[in-house]
Amino acid sequence: MEIAHSLQQIKSSYIREILIAAADKNIISLAGGLPDAKTFPLDLMKATFKKLTDMPEVFQYDATIGYAPLLKYLSHYYQLAPTHIAMICTGSQQGLDLIARAYINPNDCIIMEAPSYLGAMQVFGLVQANIQTISTTHDGPNVSELEDAFIKHNPKMFYGVPDFHNPTGICWSLETRQQVAKLCIQYDVTFIEDAPYRELRFTGEPLPMVSHFCADNAIVLRSFSKIASPGLRIAAVTAKKSYLEPLLKIKQGADLHSSVPIQALLLDLLQHPDFPEHIKTIQSLYKKRYHVLFSELKKQLPEGCELKPVDGGMFIWLSLPPCDTFALAKTLIKNGVAVVPSPVFYPHPENTPSALRLNFTNANSSELREAVSRLCRVLNATLISTQ
Ligand SMILES: Cc1ncc(COP(=O)(O)O)c(C=O)c1O
Repeated sequence: MEIAHSLQQIKSSYIREILIAAADKNIISLAGGLPDAKTFPLDLMKATFKKLTDMPEVFQYDATIGYAPLLKYLSHYYQLAPTHIAMICTGSQQGLDLIARAYINPNDCIIMEAPSYLGAMQVFGLVQANIQTISTTHDGPNVSELEDAFIKHNPKMFYGVPDFHNPTGICWSLETRQQVAKLCIQYDVTFIEDAPYRELRFTGEPLPMVSHFCADNAIVLRSFSKIASPGLRIAAVTAKKSYLEPLLKIKQGADLHSSVPIQALLLDLLQHPDFPEHIKTIQSLYKKRYHVLFSELKKQLPEGCELKPVDGGMFIWLSLPPCDTFALAKTLIKNGVAVVPSPVFYPHPENTPSALRLNFTNANSSELREAVSRLCRVLNATLISTQ
């Protein structure tokens, strides 16, 4: 049977291939975006696991929008305006998929930063969006390019990850946040604010979300994958009610609703008195690992490689002199370290800048040190021989 035209354009995920290779225990993986499984707050969830067996009601079908007590808690926690609502999704990846299917017709334009989150490129690719990109600076998207793109392409949406961007780790400055919000209002473009890493700040103070400055022009995706556990598959999407109603229709057809026992479990976890301490623990663990990775790289990287510090999240973006990053990633696998090459993060991967995405949350400090020495040995050999 012939597969749908929309799917024929989607290339198989290189990350998936790399992750399969990286499962080999001799390879240290800096490739995935995985939180450290040892930090999952299972102890904080133990009592609820038991309690659930006395709650048959959460094992029944429930409302598509989500488990009412969780929605009530989140509306209060996010201080949603009376015009705004929350809905629960099976991970923010599902939220993105629902947004794409609810709003994008083939060839409708959506603007993204380049590089950008691969999973967002996939869902917008599947609905055959016309994806246009703008470049990023150390402070976030280039706002003058963004305005030009709004004028030229009349897009429906601008998708962004303002807090510790995947893959670059960049955190947008306050000024950029305000300017982006202003442009979205001025040109009536909806800002899709994807914020799975927001709570993983380990340096400096949190900045207001972009949607704080353009609440009526924004849909916000808040994932619990990085602060609780990705296997729970729970995220919240918030926006004004009229924006979310079409998503609810599609979700009903997709999976009726997300798992109710898991929503009940998450609610208890979020309300657990020790949950804030859990967040602090992962922040300081990831900070320590980030410093190991960053300082070792600084010491050992060959000339021509560039590294920007980050204040949180899970990734460092290592810029390289022009080279074949796919070939480099394959050589690195053979030398016991997995990384992700930059072209996979670009919707139009031709002639993209050479770089590698490095994750620092899933390997421990000694593995990170060993990974850096393997990485730099290969970089020294390859980059010097190609110069
Ligand atoms: C930017 C971004 N958005 C969304 C997701 C998907 O998150 P979830 O596990 O909530 O589906 C990820 C996962 O890594 C991500 O990096």
